[in-house]
Amino acid sequence: MFNDMSNIDRVASLSASKLQEMSAFISEGKQELGITKFNELLTKSKVNDLPLLSKAIVKQAVIDMKAAGYIFPTRKYGGNDVDVFSHEDVRAIYRHRGVATYREKFKGGFTIFIGNLKGGVSKTVSSVNAAHALRLHPDLIKDDLRILVIDIDPQSSATMFLTHEFAYGDVDTTAIQAMLNNVSREELKELFICKSQVDGVDVMPSSIDDAFIASQWEALCEEHLPGQGVYSVLRENIIDRLSDDYDLIFVDCGPHLDACLLNTLGAADLLLTPIPPAQVDFHSTMKYLMRLPQLFSKLSEFGVDRSRPVNIGYMTKVADKKDHLEITEISKEIFGGHMLDAKIPRLDGFERCGETFDTTITANPETYPGSVQALNNAKKASYSFARSLMSRINFMRSSEESL
Ligand SMILES: Nc1ncnc2c1ncn2[C@@H]1O[C@H](COP(=O)(O)OP(=O)(O)OP(=O)(O)O)[C@@H](O)[C@H]1O
Ligand SMILES: [Mg+2]
Repeated sequence: MFNDMSNIDRVASLSASKLQEMSAFISEGKQELGITKFNELLTKSKVNDLPLLSKAIVKQAVIDMKAAGYIFPTRKYGGNDVDVFSHEDVRAIYRHRGVATYREKFKGGFTIFIGNLKGGVSKTVSSVNAAHALRLHPDLIKDDLRILVIDIDPQSSATMFLTHEFAYGDVDTTAIQAMLNNVSREELKELFICKSQVDGVDVMPSSIDDAFIASQWEALCEEHLPGQGVYSVLRENIIDRLSDDYDLIFVDCGPHLDACLLNTLGAADLLLTPIPPAQVDFHSTMKYLMRLPQLFSKLSEFGVDRSRPVNIGYMTKVADKKDHLEITEISKEIFGGHMLDAKIPRLDGFERCGETFDTTITANPETYPGSVQALNNAKKASYSFARSLMSRINFMRSSEESL
């Protein structure tokens, strides 16, 4: 019976070819339609309404910038050329006005870990949608946030949502490889970091082969990184080296109590706990939260001596149901003031945008497989979540600065 491997081999080979076929279909479709990059244009009236701008300010800035040689794109509307603005143009207007960017206000990358040992609770979906929404939220364009998503989950879901380039096939230049190979900042930027569909949001991909490295982490560190703390590698070999290059860094990690999770906890400045409202999932989440102090004690024993990050809870996959509302209230009792008011509700848009290797922000209504209304609802929820998260981070960082 055990000699009959043909079924295993056959299923493996058919899976590989199906995956390649599906990925190629989407990638080629995007190339054919010229939508490999997200390129939203904003009308003048939208730009006039942005924070710290007004109709008069934008008008004058455009005159001055054009006189200085800046070229704004135009679009035909009703037979006339009208000024429209890319996000980059809007950032140029803010620069022209002398508005401070985020990095001028807060120095160094700030690392966020959306973590839970319960699987499937929206860790990855929250991370990737927040990454894109933070970069493009109308209130935050002025901040010019530079965002990196480090994917150290061998499932590679974050990689898949953020770039169709690595949705299939072997990738050697993964985040875990970079950790282990102790590469320089220049090499990290040239070889290990790739662009997502949104300019200014980058990703360090993962690959299924990383699972082997994760399972042998301690032994591999002894061989490749002698003398270095095994749970300090993500912080020291990646995050610290890119501290001047990114303002916000998300780390996406699988639901396993392994070296990846410990490295991520050891690197995080902020923990976010997604709280699912279904009873069984909620129980597992409580167990994870109960375990966290032990994990931080273990990190201390291994020489990770950073101060413990703040842990903020938020609801995921919630619907307007009585039992969901009850769990939301219990979560508020646990987290108190450390509960985010925004949530990632259960919506089709979150589930289906991945089918085209997109986030809710980049998904194109023309190619999105579900209803456009469903996509818009999820997009709105992503923007609210990002805005709320940014207010928390700003509050935390301003309080720190004033200490
Ligand atoms: N708010 C939501 N509404 C509907 N579906 C969602 C939502 N969030 C996530 N999903 C779907 O639930 C599944 C799990 O989501 P996701 O991969 O983000 O969870 P995860 O916590 O990262 O899982 P893992 O523990 O395996 O890393 C995916 O199929 C995703 O599309
Ligand atoms: Mg995940």
